[in-house]
Amino acid sequence: MTIQDFDIQVASAKHVDFAAQICNEMAESAKARGTGIAQRSPQYVADKMLEGKAVIAFHKNGTWAGFCYIETWSHGDFVANSGLVVNPEFRKVGLAKAIKQRIFNLSREKFPNSKIFGLTTGLAVMKINSELGYEPVTYSELTQDEDFWAGCKSCVNFDILTSKGRKNCMCTAMLFDPVEKAKEQALKTKDMARKANLFRRIEKAIKSFSQDLKIF
Ligand SMILES: CC(C)(COP(=O)(O)OP(=O)(O)OC[C@H]1O[C@@H](n2cnc3c(N)ncnc32)[C@H](O)[C@@H]1OP(=O)(O)O)[C@@H](O)C(=O)NCCC(=O)NCCS
Repeated sequence: MTIQDFDIQVASAKHVDFAAQICNEMAESAKARGTGIAQRSPQYVADKMLEGKAVIAFHKNGTWAGFCYIETWSHGDFVANSGLVVNPEFRKVGLAKAIKQRIFNLSREKFPNSKIFGLTTGLAVMKINSELGYEPVTYSELTQDEDFWAGCKSCVNFDILTSKGRKNCMCTAMLFDPVEKAKEQALKTKDMARKANLFRRIEKAIKSFSQDLKIF
């Protein structure tokens, strides 16, 4: 089995029948890991599909393979790519990575100015997020939207979050800040231009030196 065996697409109305199966898998996986999640109803997941804010994957034989959706917070200042789940039949072939890349691209298209963040206890997701350019941050860097944090109420670790005054919990917070990334990119471009200029000057000096050698 390879990643070529899967079709990854933006979910739409024709996929709403998969919402219950997806929610069931999210809940079962959380139970198996013994960690918490912000539980979502099939209706919530179906609405994400109808809004064009979700990515769904299928194996070429038609079996549902994976899912992830976009949530917006603080009036769109923040976006989260949440609810990532891969059908246990199809894990460890790079599907989560491919789904996350697709939902990340969709988030950047739909909300180019939003910061994209995630809260996770999972090593796989931390790895994937790092590759996408997310960086670990403190909770204070995340959205302070009460509706977002209310989602943590269904997590088994909610008491920990509350006891720490929402400054800390079991999840690692990661953030992709488009403004910071643009600054980094500008610095990289400037550095490349400086190096190219230096290279041209060295080349010119060598040429002139070899011409001088020919004279003598
Ligand atoms: C976590 C999950 C989405 C990973 O899906 P997947 O398709 O198996 O992941 P991928 O094959 O794309 O692997 C991505 C990377 O994570 C690593 N990885 C995958 N599962 C891992 C695990 N359980 N523990 C540690 N690393 C893992 C892979 O080795 C890969 O790393 P690499 O790029 O260095 O090779 C899947 O196990 C799942 O659905 N779990 C239940 C739901 C869940 O935990 N969702 C995340 C909520 S934040």
